[in-house]
Amino acid sequence: MAMAPSISYSMTVRLEVGSRGRAVSEITRAVEHAGGVVTALDVNAAGHERLRVDVTCAARDTAHAEAIVAELTAMPDVAVHKVSDRTFLLHLGGKIEMRSKVPLRTRDELSMAYTPGVARVSMAIANHPEDVRRLTIKRNSVAVVTDGSAVLGLGNIGPYAALPVMEGKAALFKRFAGIDAWPICLDTQDTDEIVRTVQAIAPGFGGINLEDISAPRCFEVERRLRGLLDIPVFHDDQHGTAIVVMAALTNALRVVGKELGSVRIAMAGAGAAGTAVLRLLIAAGAKDVCVCDDKGSVHRGRTDLEANENLRWIADSTNSPCYAGDLAGAIVDADVFIGVSAPGILRGRDVAAMKSDAIVFALANPEPEVDPDEAREHAAVIATGRSDYPNQINNVLAFPGVFRGLLDAQSRTITDGMLVAAARALADVVTADELGPNYIIPSVFHPDVASAVAAAVREAASGAHPAGPQPSSSRSPRPHAPGPDLTGPDLTGGPDLTGGPDLTGPDLTSPDPGGPDPSGPYETVN
Ligand SMILES: NC(=O)c1ccc[n+]([C@@H]2O[C@H](COP(=O)([O-])OP(=O)(O)OC[C@H]3O[C@@H](n4cnc5c(N)ncnc54)[C@H](O)[C@@H]3O)[C@@H](O)[C@H]2O)c1
Repeated sequence: MAMAPSISYSMTVRLEVGSRGRAVSEITRAVEHAGGVVTALDVNAAGHERLRVDVTCAARDTAHAEAIVAELTAMPDVAVHKVSDRTFLLHLGGKIEMRSKVPLRTRDELSMAYTPGVARVSMAIANHPEDVRRLTIKRNSVAVVTDGSAVLGLGNIGPYAALPVMEGKAALFKRFAGIDAWPICLDTQDTDEIVRTVQAIAPGFGGINLEDISAPRCFEVERRLRGLLDIPVFHDDQHGTAIVVMAALTNALRVVGKELGSVRIAMAGAGAAGTAVLRLLIAAGAKDVCVCDDKGSVHRGRTDLEANENLRWIADSTNSPCYAGDLAGAIVDADVFIGVSAPGILRGRDVAAMKSDAIVFALANPEPEVDPDEAREHAAVIATGRSDYPNQINNVLAFPGVFRGLLDAQSRTITDGMLVAAARALADVVTADELGPNYIIPSVFHPDVASAVAAAVREAASGAHPAGPQPSSSRSPRPHAPGPDLTGPDLTGGPDLTGGPDLTGPDLTSPDPGGPDPSGPYETVN
């Protein structure tokens, strides 16, 4: 598939050019001749002889960016001085920071925020662990935990290389749901060590977002942590994807006038995303599904099921006719194709063999299972993971609202019912008037997305277990500490000092307004 120039490969080239009549427009033409897109052009110094120009342009990839610079360098009477990669500039020094919410200007303020005042708050929590959410950051904090083993489409690149991605995720949590998330990049890929480490850090958080941990370890890590912790554990690559796919499919089926319970679904991919998508499809009522992996269809006669608990579950839950063949065969007469697998494994002719009004979700990143333009010739609705096509399946549509709802409900768990509720709420953000083949899922910037998802999860969580104060640690509260002056109810209890919405209320949980970062740009191209 041909890639279009993208802002993620945006650079600013500083150059000098003779101050002739058409000098500046020749620069634009040179960039366009090399296939780039000029997004800004600033003449920032002019003399009689020379102009200094900063030209900002988008390229397809690093090699293309180099080709554009080469084209500019080859221009007569042009001197290229400096090339700045705008994406790298944005990352200098990291993308997030911690800030104090309380003033620390005077000794009095210091004495309350830290010692000696803080000791009374600590003792109050020691005596009443259920107060920890009310009196600390736990109520609004999420750990974004990775071992760096399956980062984006980049593979096992380790915890350091994973950090910019996890920082970005934390920034999205804040931007879309007002949640204080923190990247935790672990220097281990041992399942036991990951589980033990996350268990040990859990007291400081109201939820755990597992991220970019490779299959099949991700299944065991999540299952064990869910058993150990009294806060929700959510692997976004699995369940975030599943929620958005389910929401998009709900609306795609509305577009073509079909029902989930009666359509035939062919899937490619039985890994982290595929398994979670399948689980949610079944929970929402799908009945006729056939899943293929790199060895063909998953069926009860396969000899590799014993070694893989996950595949065994898929074989037992799908493909009742026991179809044993390849993906091209599985897709024949299917109403829906969902790919979370590998690039370019289908052609337009495979899509042509599907039923009329076919739905094709080709989500392999960055290159889909089938070229969307080829698929469009035969299918009624297409979705991809790409931002340069309509109907982008993007996890940002799910995880901020999901965690907002879980934290607000002080939920201890996350259930399939909550995921289905989130998917339905996300689907319903698209109104009947707006719904169409090119608009089955709202934009990530739609202002109602996070709040709608959060409300649905909050409601489902309240039904699952009534909200109430829960301690995070499995340890029992400590015995009452001596000294009534430190812990007595007259000092720590009562609504005036620690209770009531005025002290811990909406400002902690309301979405971040998303205004300009007051710290300003880290570096300019000067
Ligand atoms: N929002 C999104 O668009 C989104 C979300 C999650 C994953 N994805 C994409 O989905 C893909 C899979 O992600 P994952 O985390 O589940 O990976 P994974 O490694 O856990 O699983 C990949 C699965 O694809 C199967 N596969 C490989 N080649 C195949 C082929 N030729 N035919 C059929 N199946 C084949 C593998 O057997 C495996 O079951 C990636 O490209 C990822 O970027 C997209």
